[in-house]
Amino acid sequence: MTLTHSVTKVFQDKFGSEPLLLIAPGRINLIGEHTDYNDGFVMPAAVDKCIAFAVASNGNDQCNFYSIDFKNSFSFKLSESTPGGSWFHYMMGVADGFMKMGLPISGIDCVFGGNIPTGAGMSSSAALCCGIAYAFNELFHLKLSRLQLAKIAQHAEHEFAGVRCGIMDQYASLFGQAHSALLLDCRSLTHEILPINFVDAEILLIDSKVKHELGSSAYNDRRAACEAGVYELQKIKPTIQSLRDVSNEDLVLLKTKVDADVFIKCQFIVNEIERTQQAAQLLKANDLVGFGKKMFETHWGLSKEYEVSCAESDLLVQLAQDSHNTVFGARQMGGGFGGCMINLVKKDAIEEFKDQIKKKYVASFKKEPDFYSVDLVDGVHVQQT
Ligand code: GLA
Repeated sequence: MTLTHSVTKVFQDKFGSEPLLLIAPGRINLIGEHTDYNDGFVMPAAVDKCIAFAVASNGNDQCNFYSIDFKNSFSFKLSESTPGGSWFHYMMGVADGFMKMGLPISGIDCVFGGNIPTGAGMSSSAALCCGIAYAFNELFHLKLSRLQLAKIAQHAEHEFAGVRCGIMDQYASLFGQAHSALLLDCRSLTHEILPINFVDAEILLIDSKVKHELGSSAYNDRRAACEAGVYELQKIKPTIQSLRDVSNEDLVLLKTKVDADVFIKCQFIVNEIERTQQAAQLLKANDLVGFGKKMFETHWGLSKEYEVSCAESDLLVQLAQDSHNTVFGARQMGGGFGGCMINLVKKDAIEEFKDQIKKKYVASFKKEPDFYSVDLVDGVHVQQT
């Protein structure tokens, strides 16, 4: 049974009415990591790992959710939203976002289920929030734009889950386009479509099975380091608003103003913003070798400078780099500390590559990685039954 069939069936059994069906995809990110909250560039794409929702308004002020995957339900009154660490706090955060904008929402019934691996750097929580935001918008005819929905979904992460994330994941889940990546400018919040149709390469995700914990303070700490750098530079150059505005000469100045750790973090971000723009040019020129090199550079920067990698991720990327005839580029994807590596692999060598990786990873870490092939798909949408 497909995801949409199962959510529909469970919804009908539980609530006895006909639901609206929505699909909200997870995302990959080709390059541009931790640059979104620094007004930089990112290159995400929505993928066919997604969450399906069956939803309907219920005419009262209570929201009733059932998660097929967690096999549990949760109800809350719209006036009773509180922050916290469970899946339903994301729903509360989304509802709160609409209410803070003074928009007339009321209760909904919802059954949802999906196949985005959690804690794997594929933004299952963004898909959850974006799907629910889209549902409120549809059910109550609010006519908010996709960008407004992305910001409501981000509000849920910031204020309810306590993660001060950027906008990349929500934007990708809502604006994704089939067979394409987005070159998203996180300052102007506009994007360019980059068609992805590699002739002899394929995107392969390798899940280290190390669950990253974005909620853990490390993500917010990195963001704070970036802000500390900007704060110091602003004293000298008030026009600087974010690391996007920082040049190499500014970095030289910064080095004398902040401790080594803050400096290295800021330097990585300035380089990563630049690298992402260069990578976009290489992709447009169909230079996969050049593009792949940038991916490796990003990874080792994430590992040695930004310090958001782990031994498992580093091994997977090193193995990919050592087989350079097979893999154009590889790097850890998303917030960090494990999760998935994104690899650009030669099509004809993919099975052999997987075998090699599996053997060596098991030998080092006594656990098997998972492999996911993904198709690039459209962002959140209504699904006809
Ligand atoms: C997480 C966040 C994003 C982004 C990435 C790192 O996925 O939700 O906003 O910062 O980490 O690039």
